[in-house]
Amino acid sequence: MKIVRLPGTDLETSALGMGCASLGSRISANDGLRFLNEAYSNGVRWFDVAPAYGAGQAEQILSEFLTGRRHEMRICSKVGLLPPRGNSVFRNIYEIARPIAQKAGGLRRFYRSLSATRNVKVPLSPAIIVSSLENSLRRLRTDYIDVFALHDPSAVDVAREEILRCLEDCISKGFVRYVSVAGDEEAVAVAARVGLPFSVFQFANPLGSSLPEKLTQIKGTEPAMVTHSVLGLGAERDRLLALSRTNPDLERSIRDAGYTGHLNEVVSNFLIGRAFVRNPNGVVLLSMFSPGRAANAAKLTRISLSAGSRAIYEKLEMLASRKDSNNDS
Ligand SMILES: NC(=O)c1ccc[n+]([C@@H]2O[C@H](COP(=O)([O-])OP(=O)(O)OC[C@H]3O[C@@H](n4cnc5c(N)ncnc54)[C@H](OP(=O)(O)O)[C@@H]3O)[C@@H](O)[C@H]2O)c1
Repeated sequence: MKIVRLPGTDLETSALGMGCASLGSRISANDGLRFLNEAYSNGVRWFDVAPAYGAGQAEQILSEFLTGRRHEMRICSKVGLLPPRGNSVFRNIYEIARPIAQKAGGLRRFYRSLSATRNVKVPLSPAIIVSSLENSLRRLRTDYIDVFALHDPSAVDVAREEILRCLEDCISKGFVRYVSVAGDEEAVAVAARVGLPFSVFQFANPLGSSLPEKLTQIKGTEPAMVTHSVLGLGAERDRLLALSRTNPDLERSIRDAGYTGHLNEVVSNFLIGRAFVRNPNGVVLLSMFSPGRAANAAKLTRISLSAGSRAIYEKLEMLASRKDSNNDS
């Protein structure tokens, strides 16, 4: 496992982070704890959670895993989203349907498509931030959070004076070490312009995104980045798979860059490897609730680029941005 020190912070941690969005919803507590331990034995020390994750269960399940090893871990939790209304009913449905849902990807998509399963946005205020933080600390059974993020905030909230003062207060009282925005491109860019208290930036970094460069430009220095959606925000992985099937040169180039195995695996690993290349001193989040995922991704943290493979990454980033600009027009 590659170890990184997030630029501008004293957070030293694994380059690979465990995304806990499904912990307690799609993934049962028992299975979840098994995969958290699997990630830990493969060197993962960063865990990304939120009050809304796992239908509201993720922080509590994570706390069981943290027992006796809190000091080794870096925890990011958030404020801004709550589990869906009527959550307790859905929690029961998850319990009953989990065995079927795990087999049928279609059912998983069906859950997501129901508006009742969508997380609820919380209007941010100092009082809400403080009570959400207190509840997270209680559920996580810890007295501090390494990184406390505004979860999908509006760009306006990111720059609001009373929010900034409240976040500074959370740091000065020792409940929070660093503050972050985990959100869309606009909110993250505003946070970079605001500067402190924001020192960590969490965002999707799919093929074609130039947000890392934009943040570096705004800050005038390398930012501390936590990136996710490495397999794509939509169906990018499937698109790349289809492209590789019809374009043997592309498949050959990816294999020449050192990725081996079945085409599915080659394409997924290529995208994961690319995520580490695009965020070399930060943390890349992955959902790793399947056997072998953590071990595989841990190996990919160390990917280094030959001149040839750098050209392939650049070609694919270009292909993706060309596709995006076509969509825009
Ligand atoms: N606004 C925000 O703050 C925000 C937004 C999105 C995500 N996140 C964070 O980022 C984490 C990761 O989310 P993501 O959307 O980026 O998910 P992801 O890691 O791309 O995973 C999405 C799905 O792909 C599967 N997968 C993972 N590795 C794979 C591989 N090598 N081959 C095939 N399938 C694979 C996962 O399965 P298994 O899990 O079953 O292995 C999961 O079902 C979340 O849990 C959350 O912590 C934060």
